[in-house]
Amino acid sequence: MAESVTITDNRTGESIEIPIIDGGVDAGQWKKLLGNTWFFDPGYTQTASTTSAITEIDGDAGILRYRGYPIEQLAEHSTYLEVAYLLIYGELPTAEQYEKWKHDITYHTFIHENVRKRFMEGFHYDAHPMGMLVSALAALSTFYLEAKDIFDEDVRNAQIVRLIAKLPTLAACAFRFSMGMPFVYPDNSLDFPSNFLSMMWKIAEPRFEANPALARALDVLFILHADHELNCGTATMRMVGSSHSDPYTATAAAAAALYGPRHGGANEQVIRMLTGIGSIDNVEDFIKGVKEGNGRLQGFGHRVYKNFDPRAKIIKQAAYDVFEMTGKNPLLDIALKLEEVALADEYFVSRKLYPNVDFYSGLIYQAMGFPTDMFTVLFAIPRVSGWLAHYKELLEQDQKIARPRQLYVGAGERAYVEMADR
Ligand code: CMC
Repeated sequence: MAESVTITDNRTGESIEIPIIDGGVDAGQWKKLLGNTWFFDPGYTQTASTTSAITEIDGDAGILRYRGYPIEQLAEHSTYLEVAYLLIYGELPTAEQYEKWKHDITYHTFIHENVRKRFMEGFHYDAHPMGMLVSALAALSTFYLEAKDIFDEDVRNAQIVRLIAKLPTLAACAFRFSMGMPFVYPDNSLDFPSNFLSMMWKIAEPRFEANPALARALDVLFILHADHELNCGTATMRMVGSSHSDPYTATAAAAAALYGPRHGGANEQVIRMLTGIGSIDNVEDFIKGVKEGNGRLQGFGHRVYKNFDPRAKIIKQAAYDVFEMTGKNPLLDIALKLEEVALADEYFVSRKLYPNVDFYSGLIYQAMGFPTDMFTVLFAIPRVSGWLAHYKELLEQDQKIARPRQLYVGAGERAYVEMADR
């Protein structure tokens, strides 16, 4: 075979040749020779746990494609809802399919009054909106009992529509609660991003008129965040989905994974970091501190991208477009200086650390008026379509329940010690 590896079990002298297909080898072949001998791979850096036809990333070339379409083209020409359809159903919708899809999403944006009154309003006054969102997503499964029927395609499609449609409503609801402001009901006459902005910012006016350019910028950010193959949140969605949990519960788990500061929480951390640095005069010292091991440069580095993050390029341009309308975010100069210093520094260059999607997105959200603790929620709104695309694909693949191996390093057998003798 032209592309293959040969492994030999030195205990038995037996060998097996395994073809390298698409850059990897099949563990099933490995198992034929080595039986129960497993790989030690914490963080799954070297393990492919599924095949997927949704998102393609080439980290070295800085390529990101949804269903084959380059992210740059989708960001320029498409809408988030069109992209969500593409991710989930595999093809761009026809005009007729798109109209129906938009209509279905628009008419499922309302949340049950008990979700708002009993759950959302039951939180502590200073609850983090992401914590509220994670809990509300899990709670939704108790309102749609049929969702457990995960192999019924119509039922599954109904939950997909509900989840995509209700995410902005739940997000805005969490925000309004934290501000002590009344809930704003969805407005079916508005498009997806404008409706979200209306639920966020409407006060006493009969109809909230979102700035169309800002609504479009938000929609582009939604497109960029919609999927990113097997990141921590999406891997969680597939992991939980593999036990055949309903889509609401699995989505709540994925959102919980996204919440962490190493993942979707990084955009919030970037703003905290830039605010802490305070002035471009402090940038060099801050970078020195990072190199000495005092924390990380937030919004830098990526497990997959080792050249550049194509989303960061688009977002940087979007930031300038937004600042033209909102005025420049004063933290931008610090961010630019930080990027310049880091990209010229041997520490970051040798480790292939570049700005990722979170480095500039927080600056845009802040300029648009979103408080920092809403940033990860803004990430979750579109990411739900990616999670659902993977959930659907997983069920169609009829995959085994996810169950990694472990390397046990604890104590050997020992006898129970009575409390008085410890
Ligand atoms: N600042 C300083 N050093 C870093 C950074 C950073 N942001 N990221 C990685 N390194 C160093 C790290 O210390 C290690 O150095 P050494 O080899 O000397 O020990 C080397 O680079 C490799 O790091 P790693 O932790 O093994 O890399 P990873 O692939 O496990 O981590 C990452 C990827 C994104 C978690 C990490 O780069 C990071 O923590 N970045 C900051 C947080 C962030 O921006 N996260 C958003 C990621 S993109 C959006 C998303 O996924 O939600």
